[in-house]
Amino acid sequence: MTQFAIVILAAGKGTRLNTRRPKMLHEVGGKALLRHVVDAARQIVQPNDIYVIVGHQAEEVKKAAVGVGVNFIPQTEQRGTGHAIQQAQPAVAGYEHFLTLSGDAPLIRPETIARLRDFHLAQRAAMSVLTACPPDPQGYGRVLRKKDAPSEVDCIVEQRALTQEQERIREINAGIYAFASRILFAHIGELQANNAQGELYLTDMAAILRRAGERVAALEAEDAAEVLGANTIAEMMELDAALRLRTARRLMQKGVTVFRPETTVIDAEVEVGPDTVIEPFVQLLGQTRIGENCRIRSFSVLEDTVLGDGTLVRNGCNLEGSEIGRGAAIGPYTHLRAGSVIGDGAHLGNFVEVKNTRLGNNSKANHLAYLGDAEIGSAVNVGAGVITCNYDGYTKSRTTIGDGAFVGSDATLIAPVHLGQGSYIGAGSCITEDVPQDALAVERSAQVVKEGWALKRRIRKSREA
Ligand code: UD1
Ligand code: CA
Repeated sequence: MTQFAIVILAAGKGTRLNTRRPKMLHEVGGKALLRHVVDAARQIVQPNDIYVIVGHQAEEVKKAAVGVGVNFIPQTEQRGTGHAIQQAQPAVAGYEHFLTLSGDAPLIRPETIARLRDFHLAQRAAMSVLTACPPDPQGYGRVLRKKDAPSEVDCIVEQRALTQEQERIREINAGIYAFASRILFAHIGELQANNAQGELYLTDMAAILRRAGERVAALEAEDAAEVLGANTIAEMMELDAALRLRTARRLMQKGVTVFRPETTVIDAEVEVGPDTVIEPFVQLLGQTRIGENCRIRSFSVLEDTVLGDGTLVRNGCNLEGSEIGRGAAIGPYTHLRAGSVIGDGAHLGNFVEVKNTRLGNNSKANHLAYLGDAEIGSAVNVGAGVITCNYDGYTKSRTTIGDGAFVGSDATLIAPVHLGQGSYIGAGSCITEDVPQDALAVERSAQVVKEGWALKRRIRKSREA
């Protein structure tokens, strides 16, 4: 197959966003704009055949594609999309053809890029333009097809330069092209900045090549939504919604029930097993992996969290960087912080915070506890209000609890401390020393009872009044 390069335009400033953060690093669907486009391009060519043009805040923008192995080409002055491609000439002139993608059109699917590539070769075109007919073409360049040969392009007219009559044209330029390198670079020097923005428009190559007798063809995308660009935050949020819906549909296709998918926020790389139910207003972020037959109730946020099959996450949980086994029940309102590993069949209840802790199979902490830097065995019962005191103001220390231990309510465990297997801690105890296996540890003063004391006090007080 003919070798293609892919050039991604990512040097622009994104003036219309009005943010300090460069446009390419804004996220939709949980991933930077540029990263979406790079990931789509990687499905078509090898990373070393991808060239990303960077300019505005280049060093920051590069971070979006760090470790992927793509090439970066500087465009120190951003003098337009045509000027950007001129910068790429030394790098891509050696390829027979190359494709150009726009870093701010993140919905593009690899299938569509491949379609444009194949169309371009079949048409033997010098330039092939991907087009679309979205409901609202406002803001985009319009594609004027040749009257006598409608598969070919006459020219592309930018929004600002449209005549009233041309404003009615609904077919837009997606900003995604295929070029025959030799022919394009033979003519790219003819670009002129005689337009509203004083820039070199890549779009002008259509008319230049056509006038030179070259073939400029147009391919309409099957789905107009796929090529939409993001110039403003509002447009970006529309793309975000579209991407999340695409992800929700992908999961539903695999047997996951997503109630009210328009309310869920699911990142592109999240995986969920069949028969799992996701209720409204759930967020599944980052590299979250959820097993089969789980239920995630409303208002829970899971980030980089792995869930075994048949686990229930009740409402309002915040789970990050953690791993939970099969058949567990979490929440409502449980907070798992990074590095927590929760065993099969474990229960964590309301207002339980867990950090960097292992909780064994079938262990339970059902109410109001803090478990930090702890190693807790299986079938342990952690009573209401139990606190591991893991921090003395200078260092963090660990608490270890053996299998089958029972920790009474409101016990404070001053780490480092070890509770032996099967040991029993009296409620309200402040435990500072290790407890042997199967022992009882109680640390509290003996109860004092004074018969009739309350009654006498009431009588005294009423006389005083
Ligand atoms: C561009 C097209 C327009 C098309 C639309 C599709 C031109 C002149 N117009 O308009 O016909 O309908 O895309 O979304 O090309 N960039 C650089 N260097 C520059 C300027 C821009 O790398 O000097 C990059 C930007 O970072 C961006 C892309 O090129 O990723 C497109 O630039 P942008 O300014 O957003 O063009 P549009 O006005 O959207
Ligand atoms: Ca744009």
